[in-house]
Formats: sequence, structure tokens, C-alpha cells
Amino acid sequence: MPVNPDRFLASLHHLRSIGAAGVEKGVVRPAFSAADIEARKWLAGELETCGLQVHVDPVGSVFGLAEGESLLLGSHTDSQPEGGWLDGALGVMAALEIARARHEDGLAPVSVVSFQDEEGRFGVTTGSAIWSGALDLHVADDLTDRDGIRFADARALMTGKAESFVDPERFVGYIEMHIEQGPVMDGTGETVGVVTDIVGIRDMKITMVGQQNHAGTTPMALRRDAFQALSAFNTLLNDRLRNVVTPQTVWTIGHVSLHPNASSIVPGKVTFSMQWRDGDSGRLERMERIIRETADEITQTHGMELRFGAMLGLEPVAMDGALRAALEDSAEVQAPNNWRAMPSGALHDATNVAALMPSAMLFVPSINGISHAFEEDTAEEDLVAGLKVLAGAVARLV
Ligand code: GLV
Ligand code: MN
Ligand code: MN
Repeated sequence: MPVNPDRFLASLHHLRSIGAAGVEKGVVRPAFSAADIEARKWLAGELETCGLQVHVDPVGSVFGLAEGESLLLGSHTDSQPEGGWLDGALGVMAALEIARARHEDGLAPVSVVSFQDEEGRFGVTTGSAIWSGALDLHVADDLTDRDGIRFADARALMTGKAESFVDPERFVGYIEMHIEQGPVMDGTGETVGVVTDIVGIRDMKITMVGQQNHAGTTPMALRRDAFQALSAFNTLLNDRLRNVVTPQTVWTIGHVSLHPNASSIVPGKVTFSMQWRDGDSGRLERMERIIRETADEITQTHGMELRFGAMLGLEPVAMDGALRAALEDSAEVQAPNNWRAMPSGALHDATNVAALMPSAMLFVPSINGISHAFEEDTAEEDLVAGLKVLAGAVARLV
């Protein structure tokens, strides 16, 4: 089916201009920021021009709904606090282009979605997690971002005239196109990846409380120093995790808040994010036990208090066989012998949507495997190849 590559690329560049940052193609458009809300308003207008009915749900996910049963395409338009121009945006702009082209050609319409807060300012894939029932809305309302802002207050900025949640029964399936965000296809030179499974994740905040004190007069032996405790925890944890992980397992302490964060004060408190991912739920559980035991041991030996925050998580999930087959057939036509089946180490809204309907994903390569950074990029010919594979799969399905 015909799509318009120039119009698709122009839309991606326009979306990038909303929240553009950094010298490369960077974007700062976190969920519910002014840029995110502006981008979602722009998207809503574009969806209307494709004959779709715009529906903003109570958590700010924007849908363009086709009448009757339809296939749902999309991803997210919010970004990390420092992100690239393609993470999420690609899947939504590809969906928009296919919706436009099918509207122009009088073909059966597709529905389009941009889920809210996929990047986890508040939770983990918050908007689609709530839609799928994996996260209760009332629990989500009490989640806070790193500045202490509540999800309830953030979503009120956008959903003043919010309607109900969309009934998932109206969709026959969901396909999300995305950048790989890793090094595999950049290394092999392949053009397209058809996703087999998405890894699972666990994510929680840990707080260690010691005693804030004078950095000149407090003898080392008497300190209850939060930074020293975190540092010791990290070293011991890395050592212990080595016994249970595989080369694909990952864990990250990505956000640290040290109090009061001043040169001449022994820090009294640290709160940090602890996140781990793997394709095996059993391994995620074993890692959790090690993390909790290690934190407990370290805080005891440092004379500190320990608090664990709410544990957020998503299980590993396999993609739907029939949708995968449509993507694979289409990939073989567009990129003969130049595509691969591969797992996703990044999380996606498709994890949640898979609980509601058959779901699948396709990837295009990330230059140098970089993402969640301003340098994130993909060759334009790969972006267009991915669009064509998606359009071909849609044509096979509806
Ligand atoms: C999604 O952006 C993730 O963190 O994998
Ligand atoms: Mn993404
Ligand atoms: Mn992301």
C-alpha cells in the first residue's frame, strides 16, 4: 500500500521541533510538560484530518479512533528527561502516515494511539499500564516524579475534559514500530527487526537514612554517611548479582538524590532508583531477594535506617504469532534476507497492550546503538524501510 515517505519524515521533524533540545536531534518532552501537551494537541489535529475521532483518556493517552473494529497502531510521544527524536515518536508518526494514506486511498481505516508517560516520569509505561489494568489508577495517582509532583496533579493539567477509557474490545490487535535502542542491527547492518519477546522489569526507590553531620569534625569511624553506604551497596550488589545473571540481564541505579548534597556536610540521607530487567520472571525475583538482602545488610553495618518504596514491574511477554508473521512476510518483501527476529531489551507499551489484544512490534536500527540520549538517531532510509514494512503488514491484516 502506498505511503508518503516525505510527509512521514516531515511529520517526524515537526514533532521533534516541539521540545527540541541539544545540538543533535535531542528532545526534552517529558509526560505532561508544556511541550508534551503541545505535541499531543498537534497530534490530535492531525488525527482529525485522517477522519479519526480524537479521544483523550483520563490519563492523557491520545487516541484517533476509527469507526467499528480496527487495528491499533502507535507508541508514545513523551520523552525521557533528555531523549532523542525517535523513541516513541517514530511509532506514532508511522501510525499517523499509514492512517493518512489509508484515508486518502479509501482503505479500511486504522486507529492510532500515543500513550502517556511511557518513559516513566511517574511509573513504568504508566498510561498503557493503567489502560491494561496492570496499574490501578488510584495507586498511580499517588506516584510522584523526582520533584515530588503527584501523577494525579500532572494528569489534571491535560484531562480537564477527559472522557472514559477506550474500550479495548474495539481493536483487533496492536502493532508498535520503534527504534531498536541497542547495538544489534547497527552491528549486523540489517534494516528491520521483528520482535519476538519483550523483557520484564522491576523498579523501586530505596532510601537509606544515616546522620547528617559536620564534614571536618566527625571522625570517619563515627560517621553514618549515606553516600558511603550507597557506594558499598553498589559494590557488594554487583558482586552478588554476578552469580544469578546472564549476559542479557541488566540493572541500573540511574537516579540518586543525596541529602543535603553539600561539600562540607556528611550526607545523612540518600534515595535512589534501583531498576533491573531480564527475560525470566524467576530471575527477576531472585535478583529482588539479593537486592533487598544486600541493602539490609549494608544499612545495618553502617548504622542506618532502610526504606523500600513501592515496587513497580512488568512481566516478560511474547509477541503474537499471527501479527509477527504479517510483519515477517512484509519484512521479507521490503528487506529480503536483511531482517531478523529479535527480543526487545527496552520496555514498550506493547507489553501492557499484549494483555488486552494480540500485539507485535518491529524495530529499525539505532546508529551506534544509542538511545535515551540526544545523540539517538536512525538513517532516514531505515526509517522509511520500517514504515513500508509496517504498512505492508497492515495491508496483510485489514
Ligand atoms: C523505555 O523507555 C525503557 O526504559 O525501556
Ligand atoms: Mn519508547
Ligand atoms: Mn524510552
